Amino acid sequence: MTKTTRDSRAGMGKRTRLVHAGRQPFENFGFVNTPIYRGSTVLSPDMESLYARKARFIYGTKGTPTTEALENAWSEIAGAAGTVLTPSGLSAITVAILSVVKSGDHVLVTDSAYRPTRNFCDSVMARLGIETTYYDPLVGTAIGELMRPNTRLVFVEAPGSQSFEMQDIPAIADVAHARGACVVMDNTWATPLFFPPHERGIDLAIEAGTKYLSGHSDLLLGMVSATEQYWPRLRETFDAFAMCAGAEDVFLGLRGLRTMELRLREAERQALALAAWLQTRHEVSRVLHPALPGDPGHSIWKRDFLGSSGLFSIILKPASRAAVGAMLDHLELLGLGYSWGGYESLVIPFDCSTYRTATEWNPEGPALRFSAGLEDIEDVKADLDRGFARLRAADA
Ligand SMILES: Cc1ncc(COP(=O)(O)O)c(C=O)c1O
Repeated sequence: MTKTTRDSRAGMGKRTRLVHAGRQPFENFGFVNTPIYRGSTVLSPDMESLYARKARFIYGTKGTPTTEALENAWSEIAGAAGTVLTPSGLSAITVAILSVVKSGDHVLVTDSAYRPTRNFCDSVMARLGIETTYYDPLVGTAIGELMRPNTRLVFVEAPGSQSFEMQDIPAIADVAHARGACVVMDNTWATPLFFPPHERGIDLAIEAGTKYLSGHSDLLLGMVSATEQYWPRLRETFDAFAMCAGAEDVFLGLRGLRTMELRLREAERQALALAAWLQTRHEVSRVLHPALPGDPGHSIWKRDFLGSSGLFSIILKPASRAAVGAMLDHLELLGLGYSWGGYESLVIPFDCSTYRTATEWNPEGPALRFSAGLEDIEDVKADLDRGFARLRAADA
């Protein structure tokens, strides 16, 4: 029975809310899950209703019972006034930014941001006359020194999804708000379950639902949740672009929502086990994972976050590109591929020096990023153990 409401669930646990949020079984003949509504046209009962445009659903791009279910559920989980669903995480980022800025504005973007976010700022935003300054993710309250009278938006991402620096988000948000700027966060790593964005000073929070909401590498989806203040502009911008997500993807997102906490906790457990093992390997120089004691971002993570997810990086001891190739090319379980948050473990090599501008990325050896999946961890370690043997042999 879902007889509860967002208000009545407010004092209940996160898992209860994940199970019940956004569902209206008795609007769907008692079926537990909101079905997939596909459609463009929505019929009006008469001419006056058509003119009035007051119906709950008016046209497919503006929403369906399926999209409304996930929007409502996500707003509840994120503690937001409203949520829009977009066809990918990257489109969530672009629609969020465009809902705030106008020509002549200045924006501050963390140097650790997801690279396509930078591409958007450097291409489309620049063309619109919006200037971007990249800043050191560890800036803290010194963000104030970078702010100009026309700084409209501060973009944060914590931890950086390759380099894993933590940002002091409450400190940055306080300074930005005092100067009237909007704080936008790519919260894909933690999700609202491990970092409640709007309680921590974020005005617009982005989630690539492609990662942990999906959990199965089988869909592309983005969410932007907003505070009361920023919700009307976000919704207006979203409607103007009609950048709506596909019905099947939204349905799969709703399905994923119900088990997201369980999967995220397991990804956290697997990643921590793998990270701890990698710390013991003599081929590894450093593990970049803010939930590990000793990580430079650990105290901020502990203060602000409620958990860690399955994504982290390592810096290898100096090794040739050919040796890293020998290690990665013959892995049997870990896949070599972009994206993350699925049930399968992944690894990619990366090099932030090719795009960073505000800070230097010059680690002592090659960098690898892992997305921990749900396999038996001993099998993953054994796969990597064989990989490390190939790495050593190649450079011997
Ligand atoms: C941190 C981060 N944000 C956003 C995205 C974009 O998500 P999508 O692939 O759905 O566009 C990604 C994708 O890898 C990401 O890693």
